[in-house]
Amino acid sequence: MEKVIILDFGSQYTQLIARRVRENNVYSEIVPFNIPPHQIGDDVIAIILSGGPGSVYDERPYLPDKRIFELGKPILGICYGLQIIAHMLGGKVAPAGEKEYGYAELEIIKDSPLFKNIPRKFRVWMSHGDRVLSIPENFSVIARTANSPYAAISDEKRKIYGLQFHPEVVHTEYGTEIIRNFLYEIAGAKGEWKLENYVETMIAEIRERVDGNGVILALSGGVDSSVVAYLLAKAVGENFYPIFIDTGLLKIGETERIKKFFGHLKNLRIIDAREIFLNALKGVKDPEEKRKIIGEKFIEVFRDESLKLKDKIKFLAQGTLYPDVIESTPVVGPSETIKSHHNVGGLPDWLPFELLEPLKMLFKDEVRKIGKILGMPDELITRHPFPGPGFAIRIIGEVTEESLSLVKMADLIIEEEIKNAGLYEELWQVFPVLLPIKTVGVMGDKRTYEYVVALRAVTSVDGMTADWAKLPYDVLERISSRIVNEITGINRVVFDVTSKPPATIEWE
Ligand code: XMP
Repeated sequence: MEKVIILDFGSQYTQLIARRVRENNVYSEIVPFNIPPHQIGDDVIAIILSGGPGSVYDERPYLPDKRIFELGKPILGICYGLQIIAHMLGGKVAPAGEKEYGYAELEIIKDSPLFKNIPRKFRVWMSHGDRVLSIPENFSVIARTANSPYAAISDEKRKIYGLQFHPEVVHTEYGTEIIRNFLYEIAGAKGEWKLENYVETMIAEIRERVDGNGVILALSGGVDSSVVAYLLAKAVGENFYPIFIDTGLLKIGETERIKKFFGHLKNLRIIDAREIFLNALKGVKDPEEKRKIIGEKFIEVFRDESLKLKDKIKFLAQGTLYPDVIESTPVVGPSETIKSHHNVGGLPDWLPFELLEPLKMLFKDEVRKIGKILGMPDELITRHPFPGPGFAIRIIGEVTEESLSLVKMADLIIEEEIKNAGLYEELWQVFPVLLPIKTVGVMGDKRTYEYVVALRAVTSVDGMTADWAKLPYDVLERISSRIVNEITGINRVVFDVTSKPPATIEWE
């Protein structure tokens, strides 16, 4: 299958470039910036050089192998990628004077297939320090802005292009069109990346690799593990052994939901481990301590269960996604590690299983689409992310039966009201945080002294940054009055109006 590789120089936008390429039906992979040219196969139809925080003037700059320019493959350099092209092919780059950040008006001054069917002037997003002073021989300037006379350059004959601005971000008008032009007008892409086909390929590959052996999965009910479950059910049928562990820290009705959606799977195992987790968390207040305990107990319970099936199982399936893969193992550059790449994790050595990670080349939005293709109900596909430690980190202080019950009831009301208001899919997450303080209230003509719940609602693209959601007052009012009226033990609701950064999404 045709693919585009993105050489990663550490830009915060590298993954975005990869997603934009895939959205245009061309498969993309992110690779270390110093990939040796012999590893770039015939299936690679084009190379994109990402941006990055470095400078070609750094003592030991991050530079690609120069031979990539001799492969005859179209190349697009974005931001730092443009500076690399200018610097390595004989132009000149000036060290950072003043950083240019924000919108600029781009003016196209020379026809190029890169700008096919795009107006002559439009807004682009700039974010760079260094700038190009002179361009290499055989290159022309194809667009400029007031501050960047070399905002876009090209060597049309060798099909090498450089952009000072970021076509991958939504702030750049016609950014998608520019990427599409690069793929189709310049690199001659055929548009082979179709998720429908990929699902078929995945199922066939899983079936072949598993070859009649058993596959175990820790099914959480979240989007990723649910999609893996749907895939495995299709691919290996009765050789699939999903295990759901009820930690007691999950949403109300979670076990029933698992039964509803996965109850038809012959080997589904539901483990009631509520006591184990509650006992282990007794007296623990520190958030990291809670996470550690929950993680350890989860592994223990899963290990015990999986070892019971040891004779039948050869594979352990996991819902690892491409961003986890990109962000986990270090790539050593010429001078230091800028980022992590490839070969995530590996098996914990006490588990005698091989790892099966069918989603590991996929982004979250693609996983959701695959869920849809597999016929997963929307209720599962659109679910908000839910943290592994569950409500334990949404109870500030000690996790007890009482505090768990309060926070879970509040959660039920919040989700119901947000869904009724049609806001669920706009939000990244919405949940209550139970605070360890009591405040005074009045109910009827009686004084109350009960707990406070904080309502947290955020919008986000990937959870890395987030805005607090501007929920309508009437929705806030309904949530607040229902929580206070329906839950004995809570008499006050406050709304968290902090973004991330500086706050985090969770309170612990
Ligand atoms: P923060 O609070 O760091 O959260 O802004 C970012 C995203 O990560 C989720 N999160 C977790 N998920 N285990 C998880 O599986 C955890 O310990 C954990 N902590 C935070 C959080 O819900 C949000 O989506």
